[in-house]
Amino acid sequence: MKVAVLTGGGDCPGLNAVIRAIVRRASEHGFEMMGLRDGWKGLLDDNHFRLTRETTSGILHRGGTILGTSRVNPFKVENGLERVKRAIERNGIHAVIAIGGEGTLSAATRMSQEGLRIVGVPKTIDNDLNGTDFTFGFDTAVHIATEAVDRLHSTAESHKRVIVCEVMGRHVGWIATYAGIAGGADVILVPEIPADLEAVAQHLVRRNAGGRTFSIVVVAEGTRIKLSADQNEQLVTTGALDEAGRPRLGGVGNIVAAEIERRTGFETRVSVLGHIQRGGAPTAHDRVLATRFGVHACDMVARGEFGMMAALRGNDIVSEHLAEATRELKRVPKEFFEVAQVFFG
Ligand code: F6P
Repeated sequence: MKVAVLTGGGDCPGLNAVIRAIVRRASEHGFEMMGLRDGWKGLLDDNHFRLTRETTSGILHRGGTILGTSRVNPFKVENGLERVKRAIERNGIHAVIAIGGEGTLSAATRMSQEGLRIVGVPKTIDNDLNGTDFTFGFDTAVHIATEAVDRLHSTAESHKRVIVCEVMGRHVGWIATYAGIAGGADVILVPEIPADLEAVAQHLVRRNAGGRTFSIVVVAEGTRIKLSADQNEQLVTTGALDEAGRPRLGGVGNIVAAEIERRTGFETRVSVLGHIQRGGAPTAHDRVLATRFGVHACDMVARGEFGMMAALRGNDIVSEHLAEATRELKRVPKEFFEVAQVFFG
């Protein structure tokens, strides 16, 4: 039985660990594994290669994805679904394991509704996918962001500065909240709550008056802010679009820093972590989670659990409906954020 695997959307630490686990388990089931290059594009362009134990050894700890990735969505390409169906038929592919986030799993859901045999594996550093308690890649990103906040603390303290640290998080503030709590940030700004920059400034002034002469502000890239008094809060984008046609985010940290300096008079610097959070080796936690997802996904194919994805519930790996992943965003709950707020001050 031939099974194909793809990685789609933004990469994240742990993708190679999933691929390795799928291939190892597949050999026990007697599946022949095929790697699709660059996400769904691999099916559209019939671009793939054989995955074996040999070609997937030594990749457990490596960041990125040996399959390559893209944000190409077959439903947005002319005759995309037909081309995918033809490639599946031509190559005798029994099932496709799609490892991806919001975009990839939405397409996977639609394909399974079209009758294709699809199993999903949820991934994203943002941890915003519903239906799973955590995604791999998140822990690694939080580790990197926490280390950065620790480092920013010591230099902020020496110079008596405010430092704004911009982290990833397009729709949700999981990375900002976790790294902010772990790193002891004085303010955390997240997409779930539009930023009130005047309140932030007053808070920093109060801290300073209380003798705390430096502050760390963590802001998620997707935090909405008011750019002028007569406008509503909005996202800060670079003006460019990504491969999927979504606005590229970036720059909120610079605006927050400039506003803090203008309103408080405190010297304020900014540090944008960007893709450093997505690159490099996964943490041990992410390697284990990715490995468990990979083994489970392969077993799902063997059991014929199509239209489903591997998911983490508590400490168990379970099978969840694919549509659940994108039914709604998994936002940081209010009660969780309130824990972080205890330490603002
Ligand atoms: O979805 C994960 C993510 O890291 C988002 O936080 C971010 O907006 C996006 O990917 C950026 O991806 P890229 O730079 O690849 O377009």
